[in-house]
Amino acid sequence: MDLKLNNSKVVYFENLNELITYCGEKTSNNSHHTFIDKNVLLKFPVFKEAGMNMSPLDISEDEKNLATVSSLWNIMFEKSLQRSSIVFSIGGGVISDEVGFAASTYKRGTKLINIPTTLLSMVDAAHGGKNGINNEYGKNQIGTFMMPNEVLICSEFLNELPEKEIKTGLIELIKAGFLKNPQLVEKVYDVNLNQIDTSLISTAVEIKNEIVSKDFAESSERMLLNFGHTIGHLIEVDSNYNISHGEAVAIGMLKSMKISENIFGLDSNVAEKFGFFLEKLELHKDYKFNSDTDLLKELLINDKKTNNTEIKYVLLKDIGEPILIDYDLMELLNEITND
Ligand SMILES: NC(=O)c1ccc[n+]([C@@H]2O[C@H](COP(=O)([O-])OP(=O)(O)OC[C@H]3O[C@@H](n4cnc5c(N)ncnc54)[C@H](O)[C@@H]3O)[C@@H](O)[C@H]2O)c1
Repeated sequence: MDLKLNNSKVVYFENLNELITYCGEKTSNNSHHTFIDKNVLLKFPVFKEAGMNMSPLDISEDEKNLATVSSLWNIMFEKSLQRSSIVFSIGGGVISDEVGFAASTYKRGTKLINIPTTLLSMVDAAHGGKNGINNEYGKNQIGTFMMPNEVLICSEFLNELPEKEIKTGLIELIKAGFLKNPQLVEKVYDVNLNQIDTSLISTAVEIKNEIVSKDFAESSERMLLNFGHTIGHLIEVDSNYNISHGEAVAIGMLKSMKISENIFGLDSNVAEKFGFFLEKLELHKDYKFNSDTDLLKELLINDKKTNNTEIKYVLLKDIGEPILIDYDLMELLNEITND
């Protein structure tokens, strides 16, 4: 199944052998280099035998930064990559964000193929061309927009993914449903953690790509994808990245549902059911901030969606009916510090 969109193509594979054969066809006539998460290489040694030029990387959220990107640029220079070369990223969202950033800035951009290996990156991070790194001013504060040429998806990667990562991946999956597809929400509530159906992944990918195709540079519609993320990013930074992206976003989504009840009369069953789901997954439902209000305010002021005293913020009128509002920063700050 192929989905072409804005020069980015999504291809689904039944198994890793098919995926590796496909990559072999791409690399036989092109210079290329592969950056692969060390953990993934350990779990899937078949990539060692595939004859791809590769650099295994240690990855962590608090090293998704400029120093790491600089080391990736150096490898790319050492390998004499050109603009026409293909850079592969094999790993989760941390790898696709940092490799995507390095590839998009190296000589003003190489070709890029993302091979997501976590559920979260299959349904979200590997798509849409947002590449970013963190700094002391917050999450993904430095970044570029460059669509990957292709995203190659194979659910065989999920066989080795720790259950906690499956659970946090389900959060970005269900987010797509909350934004555009009520049936997807119900399907995620019934999901079997040991067998994630590829049709759920492809539905979420289609939702994301449809939104991105209308607003690549994120000036309006694409901001909807930030549902739960404003609070989520604050939690990630405040917890020194001890709370993972997916879990932090889940708390942000639940809080945004509660705010939606007050402002738009969202049915309280929506938050209640989502809260039960988080309990079932044994994920946190709330979070107490450690930082003082001034620091949280500074982080909010630095948020890319902030304009003067207001931030573009996503709420729900109903499942499948998101709405973008200009939210007063101080009101939002009150909401999150008064729990
Ligand atoms: N650019 C975007 O549009 C976008 C969207 C959503 C999230 N993100 C970013 O994605 C990041 C989170 O990504 P993530 O949740 O994929 O985390 P991750 O990349 O940190 O991966 C999670 C863990 O799983 C391991 N792992 C990866 N694949 C595996 C596999 N198949 N088997 C066993 N272990 C495996 C990794 O080594 C890591 O320990 C955050 O930095 C977030 O900001 C970006």
